[in-house]
Formats: sequence, structure tokens, C-alpha cells
Amino acid sequence: MPTPIIAPFPASRLRRLRRTPAIRAMVSECDITPANLIWPIFVTEVPGAEGAIPSMPGVERLTLDGAKRAAERAANLGIPAICIFPHSDQNLRTETCERAWDADNIGNRAIRAVKETVPDLAVMTDIALDPYNANGHDGIVVDGEILNDETVEALVRMALVQAESGADILGPSDMMDGRIGALRGALEQAGHKHVAILSYAAKFASAFYGPFRDAVGASGRLVGDKKTYQINPANRGEAIRCVARDLAEGADMVMVKPGLPYLDICRAVKDQFGAPTFAYQVSGEYAMLEGAIRNGWLSRDAMMESLLCFRRAGCDGILTYFAPQVAEAVRS
Ligand code: PBG
Repeated sequence: MPTPIIAPFPASRLRRLRRTPAIRAMVSECDITPANLIWPIFVTEVPGAEGAIPSMPGVERLTLDGAKRAAERAANLGIPAICIFPHSDQNLRTETCERAWDADNIGNRAIRAVKETVPDLAVMTDIALDPYNANGHDGIVVDGEILNDETVEALVRMALVQAESGADILGPSDMMDGRIGALRGALEQAGHKHVAILSYAAKFASAFYGPFRDAVGASGRLVGDKKTYQINPANRGEAIRCVARDLAEGADMVMVKPGLPYLDICRAVKDQFGAPTFAYQVSGEYAMLEGAIRNGWLSRDAMMESLLCFRRAGCDGILTYFAPQVAEAVRS
């Protein structure tokens, strides 16, 4: 028997394209750049409360001056937006939440401070009553019930003052029904036609928000849980319906939250609607990763990998406490 000219071979050698960094770069299907990041920051009005948040190693509550410096840092790193979360005076939190629409609350002061310092940086806000609510809920509570329509009215007031303060992107994170339509209508009527809404459309009732509640001083204050308004983590179909509803009501962009455990939702949302889709890599995800990295149990590459996975899942951008670190890493 003569030796055959064509020897037996594996039908496909996929390792060929993994052989060198140059070839791997050529065939990489997605990437992460600073433009894909939104950086959430905490701003406090309480003297002495600035500084470390133990359950979020490396993240600090900032003063107004600190917020301005963070904004400059974001702009220098090419991060397009920051998201401001207020840490308010506990003694001024009430059941009626009126400080939520006070133009001089810490959130609104931070919006103005940042816009004056770095006008080109996009400022995103959080719309929900929890920072100003005595009982830690996102809505108005009467006799143990979170009232939907009364809350939406309060949220509209809150949003208009944020828009007046210079916010570029409003982030309703409250999960009340009808709030996107109400916000959109009120913004139009008040002449804020260009203020965008990034809806926390698929926001799940998650245990991964724990460290955030430490950061904003809500831990231990929350009466009950948020399961009557946030989505059951078991429910994908319901999440899709929430996104469809919010887009129909006038949301410009939508968010899935938390992030990594919910990548199936991210992919489904992007495929089904094609709208700008964001994920929030929340405080508990950050704490797990950063804690393990600081202990030497994971390498810093785990941070980059986690963000790349959001991109692979179809996300246009990610809200992440890693934002400045990641921007620095991809720039160097
Ligand atoms: C509240 C709000 C929460 C987060 C953002 N906005 C917490 C909650 O719903 O209890 C969580 C963010 C994070 O965990 O990083 N309106």
C-alpha cells in the first residue's frame, strides 16, 4: 500500500487561532473599553462618614469635593458617566421622604458640583426614595404596604429636581409600575426633553445588594424586604415583560441588575429589543471579587474577565465599582 498523500488530520484545529497574542487579538469577538463603563459613587453629607466602606474594600464614601475629584478622574480616564448615590443624614430621613425632592439634598448638590467641575461628563442619578426614607424602602410605606401610585408622584418630583440640577441620565431604580411613562411625560412638560432615562427595568430582589445598603446607611433600617416590587430571581419571562413595558413607556436605555448571575437576561434583552442595554455589577458582586483578589485567592484578571463577560452577553455598558481600575488597566 503506498503512503496516502493526505494524512489523517483533525477536521479542525481551533488551537491554531489561539497560538499567539497577535492572532488571539485578531479573532477576539468583543472587548472592554473605558467608554463601556459607568462609575457609581457614594456622596455623603454627614461629617465624619466619608471614607472606607468595610463591606466594599477599596470603595469610599466621598465628600462633595471628593465627588468633584472623582469626576475629574473619570473624565481623564475616558469614562463617559458617573452615577451618584447619596448617603444622607439618618436623622433627616422621614416616612414621607420629602427630602427626596429638595433641591439642596446631597444628591442634587453633588449633581451641580460635578456638572460645574466637568461639564462634559454625563451624570446619572438614582430615582428611588430609599436614601431619604426612614424605613429604607424605595417607595412610600403606609401600614406596611408600599404604595405604587403615591410613590410614582414622589418619584416624578424627585426626577424634575434632578433634571433641574443638571442630571443627564435619570436612573429609576424603584420598580414601581407606571413610573417611566409618568417621568417621561413630566420631563417633556417641564421642558427637559433631552434628559435620558436609563431604566432599572429588570431589577431583581437580590441578596447581592447588601454592601450597597451598608454604603448608603440603609442596613438594619429596612423594614421587611423588597420582594413586593423587585423581581423574583426565578423569573426570566417577567423580566422581559418589564423591559418591554419600560421601553414602550419611553425609557431610552435599559438595565439588568444584578449582573453576573443574570447574564442570560442580558443576552435575552439585547437580542429581543436591540436597545442600549446595561448591566449593574452590584455591590455584592464587587465585594466577592475584590475580597477574593485582596486575599490572593483570585488574580486581578478575574476583574477584567467579569467585565468582558458582560460584553459577550450583549451589554453595551456596565455600571461597576471597578470602573476606574478597569479604565486604568485597559489604557496601560
Ligand atoms: C436602591 C438601589 C439599590 C441599589 C441601587 N439602587 C439597592 C436596593 O434596591 O436595595 C443596589 C446597588 C448595588 O448593590 O451596588 N434604590
